[in-house]
Amino acid sequence: MSAGLVQAAYIVAAVLFIMSLAGLSKQESARSGNTYGIIGMTIALIATIFGPESSGFGWVILAMAIGGSIGIYYAKKVEMTEMPELVAILHSFVGMAAVLVGYNSYLDHGVILDEAMLNIHLVEVFLGVFIGAVTFTGSIVAFGKLRGVISSSPLNIPHKHKLNLLAIVSSTLLMIYFVKAEGSMMALVIMTLIAFVFGYHLVASIGGADMPVVVSMLNSYSGWAAAAAGFMLANDLLIVTGALVGSSGAILSYIMCKAMNRSFISVIAGGFGQEVSVSSDTEYGEHRETSAEEVAEMLKNSKSVIITPGYGMAVAQAQYPVYEITEKLRSKGIDVRFGIHPVAGRLPGHMNVLLAEAKVPYDIVLEMDEINDDFSETDTVLVIGANDTVNPAAQEDPGSPIAGMPVLEVWNAQNVVVFKRSMNTGYAGVQNPLFFKENTQMLFGDAKESVESIFKAL
Ligand code: TAP
Repeated sequence: MSAGLVQAAYIVAAVLFIMSLAGLSKQESARSGNTYGIIGMTIALIATIFGPESSGFGWVILAMAIGGSIGIYYAKKVEMTEMPELVAILHSFVGMAAVLVGYNSYLDHGVILDEAMLNIHLVEVFLGVFIGAVTFTGSIVAFGKLRGVISSSPLNIPHKHKLNLLAIVSSTLLMIYFVKAEGSMMALVIMTLIAFVFGYHLVASIGGADMPVVVSMLNSYSGWAAAAAGFMLANDLLIVTGALVGSSGAILSYIMCKAMNRSFISVIAGGFGQEVSVSSDTEYGEHRETSAEEVAEMLKNSKSVIITPGYGMAVAQAQYPVYEITEKLRSKGIDVRFGIHPVAGRLPGHMNVLLAEAKVPYDIVLEMDEINDDFSETDTVLVIGANDTVNPAAQEDPGSPIAGMPVLEVWNAQNVVVFKRSMNTGYAGVQNPLFFKENTQMLFGDAKESVESIFKAL
């Protein structure tokens, strides 16, 4: 394939990637968005593999066959609730790839005659390796936190912000030395180690409730890491694609920060400016338990019901019986609606996807802002497997790790029933005073079984 043809193919692929992003921004066009992305990536791969600068065709195919098989296996196997973990670990691969491309490009950069070009190349290498290394360890920590193998509470080592600053300053000084010395393996290796630790610390310092923002932020970093690799490889398409991923990830992080009333700078700087006190010895009082039959009775006597689902509904796969009781109650003339928190579950739009899967009509599924004022006029709220997203501590306790985060104000309703298996905390690891309120009753057990029992009793 000639160089001109490769460039033409790259332009077509870049346009398809832009169309893919545009498609993914709406539920109805998401499928076609995915298709554009797949076609764009196929064109990009063919043009790159058969382009004039490629060699070692056999190796590329072998690597793709191994990587592709592992990818297909995991993509088929992964549960919806494990999706953010998969995304986080995939980001770590992008980060590591940028580190390896950086080292490779440093060791074998071909002939560079011009001094200015050499300096530019060295800066590209240094920045690419730095961003890649931060993305790599940061994503591994995010994966560990989402999977529950690393504690979701923020790591609070003394002088943590000063340490972050030290990492940035020392890496900058190392870069100056690296460029002045026209390349120094020692400086590159030391910076890589610093960046690995920096990435680890940055994400470990962020508390569980802010993880959605972290995942989209790492998405953004992985895009910039890919763009940096594109500069090093002089591959225009990789630069464009990396910039698209980098900026869309940054925009998503910003939107999520706004939705959760978080400072963008604070989150990306590893919780900078957030002073959190987690007091575990607060007395909350007694909680009350109820049964499926009692809840069925309560629902029959209600005129309006709001269901606020969360991560537990996804784990229990309770959306199908939830749909059934919704239909049953609606057939009795009871007004049933859903209130969806922007970060309910473990990925953006998680609850909307589950409810759509179970055929719950779109028009009764409302966003938090649309429904929050209606709780005070609601007879019964069913909190199905949600915890942090309905926690009044976000409004009442300024020292709480989730302080300031907007929440569904379910406690304003006449009756609240919380479906969960125990008194355990939610993802952010903070106790929920809602469970101890006068108008709240707990229905313990697997959410799917509980909803099915209510359906039977109805
Ligand atoms: P969580 O606060 O995670 O609470 C879910 C609750 O579901 C748990 O308290 C758990 O209690 C219960 N549960 C688990 N399995 C269950 C089952 N089989 N049956 C019944 N209950 C079950 O949920 P949430 O309110 O949806 O909040 C989401 C949290 O995740 C937020 O802190 C958010 O920041 C974070 N997060 C969100 C995202 C995105 S983008 N949505 C990404 C990463 C993290 P038991 O163990 O007692 O049953």
